[in-house]
Amino acid sequence: MNPITHHSVKVQDIEIHWREVGQGSDVILFLHGFPFDASVWDATLRALPAGWRGIAPDLRGFGDSEPGDQPMYTMDGFARDALALLDQLDVGRAVICGLSMGGYVTFQLWRLAPERVRGLVLVDTRSGADSPDAADARRNLAARVRAEGTRFLVDDMVHRLLAPETERGHFEIVETLRGIMQRQPAEAVARASLGMASRPDSTFVMTGTRVPTLIVVGSQDSVTPVAESERLRNAIHNSHMVVIPGAGHLPPLETPEAFAHALELFLGEIAPTAAGPDDTRASAQLPIP
Ligand code: MLT
Repeated sequence: MNPITHHSVKVQDIEIHWREVGQGSDVILFLHGFPFDASVWDATLRALPAGWRGIAPDLRGFGDSEPGDQPMYTMDGFARDALALLDQLDVGRAVICGLSMGGYVTFQLWRLAPERVRGLVLVDTRSGADSPDAADARRNLAARVRAEGTRFLVDDMVHRLLAPETERGHFEIVETLRGIMQRQPAEAVARASLGMASRPDSTFVMTGTRVPTLIVVGSQDSVTPVAESERLRNAIHNSHMVVIPGAGHLPPLETPEAFAHALELFLGEIAPTAAGPDDTRASAQLPIP
């Protein structure tokens, strides 16, 4: 098992905290979902295959990263933070692995800098924007969280995020998830909610990708159901999809071994950096809106 180390560095206007395992030039950047922090990747980081360096930041305002003073966290802003962190760490290209909201950030990162993306792992996410009703619900949620705190949200989300088997049979996972959500500041939750409500549709953008792509989804995900991942698979050239039996919205927490195994197989197919420039050329030629 890889030991996880903790670090922080000034990135743009804030001090960003990240977890790290491994070393070398084959890098995978993990972007967490909402309303979590990078600890959702702990089991994944510990099991990362030899030869890979894993970097998992707490997104702005979450975990131990500073909040900055923006009234809303756009997916674009999160993606710029992630790229600035890679710059700070002297990482040119990385595989980007995004879970749910982290997937929305990944789409934005691709828009900004496709030449930095060596591969994509899209976990329980969707490329579409919110419907007007869903966006309104997020704005209401932000207002309520600012007024009342996050307790009501934590109670509601535990049921929606986990597969029924996980909730019934894995008390320790329920408690871990609850703990992660409870420690996120209400203001960060509100700001990210507003940012998700205003995110653009990324489906067309993703049809232009030509990097190795793995799509992972829990068979029982009721937040971003399997059909959303099928839509992504149809949109993304040569992507490969894995459905993890028994997992809900959070395979890295609910079924960590199965998730780590799918990731290991995928990373095993990506040529080591020293083998040469794999897909930079292909991605750089694509018309990215
Ligand atoms: C997440 O897990 O990041 C959220 O479910 C994303 C969302 O609310 O759309």
